[in-house]
Amino acid sequence: MDETTPLAAQIAADARRRIDLAGRRFPRPPHTRVLTIANQKGGVGKTSTAVNMAAALAQAGLNVLVIDNDPQGNASTALGVEHHSGTPSIYEVLVEDAPLAEVVQPAAQVPRLWCVPATIDLSGAEIELVSLVARENRLRNAVDAYLEHQVRVGDERLDYVIVDCPPSLGLLTVNAFVAAREVLIPIQCEYYALEGLSQLLKNVQLIKNHLNPQLHVSTILLTMYDSRTNLAHQVAEEVREHFPGQTLRTTIPRSVRISEAPSYGQTVMTYDPGSSGALAYLAAAREMAERAVARVTETEG
Ligand SMILES: Nc1ncnc2c1ncn2[C@@H]1O[C@H](COP(=O)(O)OP(=O)(O)OP(=O)(O)O)[C@@H](O)[C@H]1O
Ligand SMILES: [Mg+2]
Repeated sequence: MDETTPLAAQIAADARRRIDLAGRRFPRPPHTRVLTIANQKGGVGKTSTAVNMAAALAQAGLNVLVIDNDPQGNASTALGVEHHSGTPSIYEVLVEDAPLAEVVQPAAQVPRLWCVPATIDLSGAEIELVSLVARENRLRNAVDAYLEHQVRVGDERLDYVIVDCPPSLGLLTVNAFVAAREVLIPIQCEYYALEGLSQLLKNVQLIKNHLNPQLHVSTILLTMYDSRTNLAHQVAEEVREHFPGQTLRTTIPRSVRISEAPSYGQTVMTYDPGSSGALAYLAAAREMAERAVARVTETEG
């Protein structure tokens, strides 16, 4: 095939991916991997990455829990789970000590995928958490208790717990950093992409020093990549230069299908599994799963 135009190259790349990834099962990690998806910049693809990577991992045979830790509730919407105000949610877990087991819901479309929803009630939590004991450790305690609960009741072990964060570095995000071992940073390939990154890395380092020695940035994913623009190439190059070990080779292209899927209460993995966006998330999920136990790398800061 003639791959000289961007469109032809994209079609050819998609065809190769379709063949390569069809029906593939991803390796089970030796322990449950708990990842926090964070970037205090808004709209960079955190939620899209959380739900689509999670769905891709589940479709490839792994057990995956998404914790929606953002009052916007976007991850809950994309996974098709109930999350109107009053629904038992992450709010009750963080503020009222409810066990995760009581609020987990199965995702609508994908087997082996579960979601702890977020409702608008969570918008007060940043303030309510301030006065609670162990305010930074509440999510971690809940996740640890849930993993132990699963062993006790004989449930299959979770392979991945993926926490979707709001676009801020407040107590909700701190809770996610303390609960996780790994941070996944989605970076939108646009001007200003790297602005604010040093603040994020500084916070990860602070949490590592004071609250969670195991925390590290294990994965960086370039999102909304437009291969036709020089800017996207430049941003990608710069990110790879700074984070050679963490940046996935797979980039996520701009794709209308990715942005449409949530309005149908779906991830792009079920909404249009053959689209470039779905194939890219499948490839990214595979890359993340196949990297041997995540390398412990120093976060720059
Ligand atoms: N690869 C993509 N191609 C096209 N649109 C995308 C892509 N990824 C995300 N979007 C769209 O961009 C918007 C922001 O994405 P998303 O909600 O995933 O970002 P976010 O970082 O979670 O945002 P927030 O900071 O508000 O939580 C959404 O409308 C989403 O549908
Ligand atoms: Mg979001």
